[in-house]
Amino acid sequence: MNHGLESWFKTDSDIPVIFALLIAQQTMNEPKRYLITAALPYVNGLKHIGHLAGAYLPADIYVRYLRARKRDVVFICGSDEHGAAITMQALKEGTTPRAIIDKYHAIIKQNFADLGISFDIYHRTSEPIHYETAQEFFTSLYNRGELEEKENEQYYDEQAGIFLADRYIIGTCPVCGNENAYGDQCERCGSSLSPEQLINPRSTLTGKTPVKKMTKHWYLPLNKYEDWLRNWIEQEHATDWKSNVAGQCKSWLDNGLQPRAVTRDVDWGVPVPLEEAKGKVLYVWFDAPIGYISATRQWALDHGKEWEPYWQDKDTKLVHFIGKDNIVFHCIIFPVMLHLHGNILPDNVPANEFMNLEGDKMSTSRGWSIEMEDYINDWIKPENGGESMADMLRYYLTTILPETKDSEFTWKGFQTANTSELVEIFGNFVNRSFVLLHKLCGGKVPVLHSELLDEADQGMLTQFKISADKVADLLEIYKFRDALSEVIDLARKGNRYMQEKQPWITARSINENAQAQKLIDNCLHICLQLTANLAILVNPFLPYTARKMCHMMKVVDKMLEWENAGKSKLLSVGYSLREPKLLFRKIEDAEIAVQLDKLKAAAAKALESKKQTEKVNRQVMQEEIKEQAAQKPMIQYDDFAKIELKVGTIVTAEKVEKADKLLKLEVDLGTEKRTIVSGIALDFKPEDIQGKQVVVVTNLAPRKMRGIESNGMILMAENGDGKLVFINPDGRADEGAEVR
Ligand code: 2FM
Ligand code: ZN
Repeated sequence: MNHGLESWFKTDSDIPVIFALLIAQQTMNEPKRYLITAALPYVNGLKHIGHLAGAYLPADIYVRYLRARKRDVVFICGSDEHGAAITMQALKEGTTPRAIIDKYHAIIKQNFADLGISFDIYHRTSEPIHYETAQEFFTSLYNRGELEEKENEQYYDEQAGIFLADRYIIGTCPVCGNENAYGDQCERCGSSLSPEQLINPRSTLTGKTPVKKMTKHWYLPLNKYEDWLRNWIEQEHATDWKSNVAGQCKSWLDNGLQPRAVTRDVDWGVPVPLEEAKGKVLYVWFDAPIGYISATRQWALDHGKEWEPYWQDKDTKLVHFIGKDNIVFHCIIFPVMLHLHGNILPDNVPANEFMNLEGDKMSTSRGWSIEMEDYINDWIKPENGGESMADMLRYYLTTILPETKDSEFTWKGFQTANTSELVEIFGNFVNRSFVLLHKLCGGKVPVLHSELLDEADQGMLTQFKISADKVADLLEIYKFRDALSEVIDLARKGNRYMQEKQPWITARSINENAQAQKLIDNCLHICLQLTANLAILVNPFLPYTARKMCHMMKVVDKMLEWENAGKSKLLSVGYSLREPKLLFRKIEDAEIAVQLDKLKAAAAKALESKKQTEKVNRQVMQEEIKEQAAQKPMIQYDDFAKIELKVGTIVTAEKVEKADKLLKLEVDLGTEKRTIVSGIALDFKPEDIQGKQVVVVTNLAPRKMRGIESNGMILMAENGDGKLVFINPDGRADEGAEVR
């Protein structure tokens, strides 16, 4: 007898042994408890459905699945209430940071609840227990000598009297040229920056150019932990982390890590717990992730549990759900903090990419977004489909989750997913099963006549388990899109099965065919057991729908537990079920048109307000320039005499290709014609300035701009609003006349 592995596998009787072994192994590897976190959103304004799809919806699907499996799981989230994002918004709204966080915390918390995001706690980083937790964390690292103290020069706004870091300072990004990059990050190209890297830095508070001033801060020496991080990620997570996450970590590590300041000179945040650091606060990205710990502590207090095992016991599986802009904080910085503090590390960080909207990046400030609040107000009304419209959004977002690359929300796609999948496949199957049950079986679950089961019936019954296992396997590895598509596929199979059986046709021969009723019973019995299975499988994704189905089947929500998935006897024979109610309603073209118009109007309004803000900013800058000009040092006549100024007439003017601001001018100086490239294209059209007279600096060294040699400079006056005007001679002067 051959005892080789191959023949062992081939023996039929051994197969259950192998399964039993695999299951035993799985159970052995199963963690004792799960701690699932979703990024704490800044409460500086409304949050859009891109945020929802980035972290909160996938986390909720995962958690609902774990709960259905009866695993010990705590789902943590809350408001990130510190940092410049909050103080800036307070300035913008002319109010205090406290007023801002109170306002948006309440709205966002309710938005998540309305969309079925089932946090176990939605905490706040402004709570005393958070201050205590964050300060203890800092003190613990400090006492162990893990933080480096450094004194150096940092940008300072003399007018506002504060040091500028993070979002308090903007300037041109050295990587992509974005003129409004922040001191910690360029939102256009995603580069992580420090204020020193910005070109033309200016204060976001006053618009002024900052000066440098000495200050002291405490740094987390990330550079010391490069090897440790590399080992941890490469050896423990080479295969289970998503490639976008592992790739970003690799590139951070390859570029080399720098010590990172964990304190700031601002007055909104958790005070640094050191006597010598009076007036300083913890850096928001130091205190925010500790917010996960303080929220767990609060949850434990509220429920009479212990919080420590969730952060200290190796048998806890910690998973952070975040958007891609948070990867470095959750995969590099926070793990180093946790490591030094003696906590467990994240098992996975299934970060999503971004979700775009109708062909453009989603952005609240540009009005190009769908706020959760707006979706709820527009769609989740009782007369409009109520909670099933929350599931409608959850459904479409799950089908387009940016799991591996950026994805795109379109209103048309929303409508199509609703019609061709939820209404026509899932809803249709459930509805047909119930309608036929009431019509052909008196509304009671019919008997299953096993002697009459054919291949199609058997195939359908076996499919329950196959689909349930596939969905579970995909959910375990964070493939939510594929998992949901399996669920829809099962409903599709149900429709096909019913179409093949056609119980309504069989019903026509009920008087002639003694078996007809039995065949109808079998088909509808199977369809109803399938409906019960669909409710279990769809529950993590569409919780409201699953409950509606339970109501129709007259079963308690306990049926939705995962151990029931794949079973073929969930509904008892003879049990009477309720009349069907449509699970989903169709979305009309007119509703979609309204949303598209709304989006365009919001974008136009945001653009107008941006222009107004820019105008004000420009005025501030003009004033600063004027002030600086007024402060120019005295010069002697000899200095002035070095400049040759002449009157010229613009003969021709044309736009310079790929340069919005430049015009190429031909200027007649009497004795010669000069080519001059001038930055006046935003204020004048070429055709309007031909024939105009200008003062020209004629002895300025030639300079190439966009490949064109400019021989001189024309002088213009600039008004307070930044608009340029000509300085015309009073009456016409001769070309070449000297200006003295
Ligand atoms: O990007 C953000 O909105 C951050 N407030 C996320 C913080 S996640 C965690 F660390 F708290
Ligand atoms: Zn950039």
